[in-house]
Amino acid sequence: MDRNLALEVVRVTEAAALSAARLMGRGEKDAADQAAVTAMRSAFENIWVRGTVVIGEGERDEAPMLFIGEKVGVGESGDPEVDIAVDPLEGTNLCAYGRPNALSVIAIAEKGKLLHAPDVYMSKIAVGPQAKGVIDLDKSPTQNLKAIADAKSVYVEDLTVVVLERDRHKDLINEIRQAGARVHLIPDGDVSAAISTCLTDSGIDVLFGMGGAPEGVLAAAALRCVGGDMQSRLIFRSDAERERAKQMGIEDLDQKWCLEELARGDVMFAATGVTSGDILKGVRYFKGGAKTNSLVMRSRSGTIRTIETEHHFDRKPQIGF
Ligand code: FBP
Repeated sequence: MDRNLALEVVRVTEAAALSAARLMGRGEKDAADQAAVTAMRSAFENIWVRGTVVIGEGERDEAPMLFIGEKVGVGESGDPEVDIAVDPLEGTNLCAYGRPNALSVIAIAEKGKLLHAPDVYMSKIAVGPQAKGVIDLDKSPTQNLKAIADAKSVYVEDLTVVVLERDRHKDLINEIRQAGARVHLIPDGDVSAAISTCLTDSGIDVLFGMGGAPEGVLAAAALRCVGGDMQSRLIFRSDAERERAKQMGIEDLDQKWCLEELARGDVMFAATGVTSGDILKGVRYFKGGAKTNSLVMRSRSGTIRTIETEHHFDRKPQIGF
């Protein structure tokens, strides 16, 4: 991939964020999600890529748009074929209730280089560049915290661990507290949380816990670009989920997936803020338009662009309005 396609597809995350943000705080998560999906699908019709959705809104029969296997973009035969992972609205409830950290997200990689993760849970540990190489999902949270603290030359008590606030994390949270680290509980949005471990000023050192597997692959793509680290393992709750994973080509269901196995090769990542949060500002409206803030990153170059865009709806109407 010679071109930084993320610079093109950021227009797609912008369109999705603009549409979802219109429904911020209305308490209607499905409507906000649908608005983001519709806008993203329609924006792809102007994007010069030859993409196949490998992480999307589900199977063709359950998702009319951005389903796994759908071809997106208007690239021609000479253009590189790429795999695309999308989450038009990551944090549907965050948007529906006007809470921080809702994003619209896309990752792009060469064909076959993103893990085709089924929509199951994934156990995750994610850290920033300073702690790269010291995490191990097979070790206890206490052991990982000690290793991360040593790598960062701080005390475990100085570390802040972000965890999704869920009943399933009760024991994990207790162990982190016992180890002496600080806990930051979030209602949703572990993609943003994983990325925030890589930002020096975020005050977040590590993400622990179980979240969505598709979100795990998107987070891994971002972490590849910013030099962070991540390990994960798929968690299955039924035989149907195991079967689904096998159908998607996963041979070893217990495999520990390292960062480079989740998102390999040259990876690009784009995200636009829907609501303001730790990594991006959300959509802000002004007379006749709105401002968005986006991140555009590429693993090969390590370049991280933050893009602030002014959209003028009188000259370019907002999709869906
Ligand atoms: P949605 O955008 O699909 O609502 O996902 C939000 C999210 O919090 C993710 O960030 C996270 O990976 C997942 O849900 C956790 O799943 P659950 O809500 O079932 O614990």
